[in-house]
Amino acid sequence: MLKTLALRSVSLHRAALPRASAVLAMSARRSLTTSTVRSKDDLKAPPITEPALAGTEGAHGKDTLARTLTDDAHNEVRGDWVLFHPVYSPEELKAVEVLHRDAKTFKDKLAVSVVRIARWGFDLVSGYKHKEIPPGSTMTLEELRKGGYVMTEHQWLNRILFLESIAGVPGMVAGALRHLKSLRLMKRDAGWIHTLLEEAENERMHLMTFMTLRNPGVFFRALILGAQGVFYNMFFLSYLISPSTCHRFVGYLEEEAVLTYTRAIEELESGRLPLWANTPAPSIAIDYWRLKDDATLTDVLYAVRSDETTHRFVNHSLANLDGDDVNPFALREPNMLVKGKLVEYYVHESQEMLKHHQPPSQ
Ligand SMILES: [Fe+2]
Ligand SMILES: [Fe+2]
Repeated sequence: MLKTLALRSVSLHRAALPRASAVLAMSARRSLTTSTVRSKDDLKAPPITEPALAGTEGAHGKDTLARTLTDDAHNEVRGDWVLFHPVYSPEELKAVEVLHRDAKTFKDKLAVSVVRIARWGFDLVSGYKHKEIPPGSTMTLEELRKGGYVMTEHQWLNRILFLESIAGVPGMVAGALRHLKSLRLMKRDAGWIHTLLEEAENERMHLMTFMTLRNPGVFFRALILGAQGVFYNMFFLSYLISPSTCHRFVGYLEEEAVLTYTRAIEELESGRLPLWANTPAPSIAIDYWRLKDDATLTDVLYAVRSDETTHRFVNHSLANLDGDDVNPFALREPNMLVKGKLVEYYVHESQEMLKHHQPPSQ
């Protein structure tokens, strides 16, 4: 018994360590000075008659343009004209871990079950499979592909394009519903809409990036049309019933996205996707993630995976809050050294983040 308790205490301590160091890492960035725990009511949005933090629902104004608008050789309009989004340092790009949040409540279990069913459907439609290569295998790439161990670049693009066309839906639906609620009730939104719309745009930019590598045919487009019609309406109705379950669902869905991109990176780096080995990053990706001019598709995959990690973290954290609570990520998000290692913020961590936010000086 004592031994069991001791082991348990060690494992709890180990589990706490990365969390503590991650929070400390954020503390350094944010100059946290205290760890006072506040009541949950501190997260409530102030009434419209009270002064709010500057910029709570406004633009992220300090972001600088990477490029000016210009016509390039292909006469395309280029430039960083999109909503705020993170740009990652090399350390952040490598800091991502594949994580899974344990399903604790009935809502969690419902959300994770729906994700598993959705994943099965995605896998079937997009022809995705993951079969471990036998240890010590001497099979050639062609044999590995014939044996179903390795997917081709074309199959990966099928998977990614289908995934991204669906992933852009939840943020827009949730953002629209909260927007309408704010109009209807004539009440502030508590900073959620901006984050949700950013997520939707971010997913759409993933789709636009990978669309430069393949132009899908009519059948594939019809599948996306049907899937969007069903998913949009289901998510809309579900969000009306239980927004927190929907954010939990997206959190679990994003766990799958992080896993998929992690596998894609491993395949690319181990030489099993030769057509992509030296593919330059599309210009839309260079602009969006502010990559170097000589960036490759590998750099793009790392950036996309980091975005998915943000969605995983933000949605699991939002699912822990009430709908009237202030969104702690409205102004700033923890960096990837935190988001890559933590699957969520507990409520008190979201409160800490808000508590220590310094409004910009006027
Ligand atoms: Fe995505
Ligand atoms: Fe995502």
